[in-house]
Amino acid sequence: MSLELGVNIDHIATLRQARGTTYPDLLQAMILVEEAGADAITIHLREDRRHIQDADVYAIRKHCRRRLNLELAATDEMVNIACDVLPNDACIVPEKREELTTEGGLDVIGSFERVKTSTMRLNQAGIRVSLFIEPDIEQIKRVPDIGAPVIELHTGTYANAIGDAKKREFERIIKASELADELGIQVNAGHGLDYENTQMIAAIPQIQELNIGHSIVARAVFVGIKQATSEMLELLRTARL
Ligand code: PXP
Repeated sequence: MSLELGVNIDHIATLRQARGTTYPDLLQAMILVEEAGADAITIHLREDRRHIQDADVYAIRKHCRRRLNLELAATDEMVNIACDVLPNDACIVPEKREELTTEGGLDVIGSFERVKTSTMRLNQAGIRVSLFIEPDIEQIKRVPDIGAPVIELHTGTYANAIGDAKKREFERIIKASELADELGIQVNAGHGLDYENTQMIAAIPQIQELNIGHSIVARAVFVGIKQATSEMLELLRTARL
């Protein structure tokens, strides 16, 4: 299976919103990421609009030459926007206003009806739906009933863990990937991945796409976003050799 990279460019917008300027230009960043060879552009339109704005979503949709992956909460407002913008992929994420970043995966069991309704509407609009979930066997077993063809495994706990806890979390990701693959669900992964920890995850054979943002944008401060993206792509390319 090939391994693709989606680059999350939210934090280019974070820098812009910090001062309310028109720079750094999100579209310019997107073009450089595409030129570096990324397979998808990922953006998250949050309810509080802390980084990506509605106008950004439309501008990116218009100019994006790769797959566009829109991350969104399972709310009517966000699903309406997605059905209007028509990204290639929509990744449903849990969202809390006060969180620093997406903390934890969706509770597919606890919010089954809401996630299923959103998934069905997005499916009907021709958008491929992915559910951002923990590497938890019970959660994954419910995904076929929701009707989403893709999951994105939350790697944040793995990224933050140390020692034995990291090994245990890695095992959970492997088991979750195997189960999802057996169920015919495409497995993506993301969150907290950086230039140190990505190759371990990239080596898991069932994983087909990684979505990485913060570490690439942070590296871009020193080497530029095209180079930062290329370096990450090289890690993905060599992870399974
Ligand atoms: N995948 C999902 C579903 C996310 O919500 C995020 C963060 O917006 C990412 C991937 C990227 O995470 P990071 O910025 O830590 O690389």
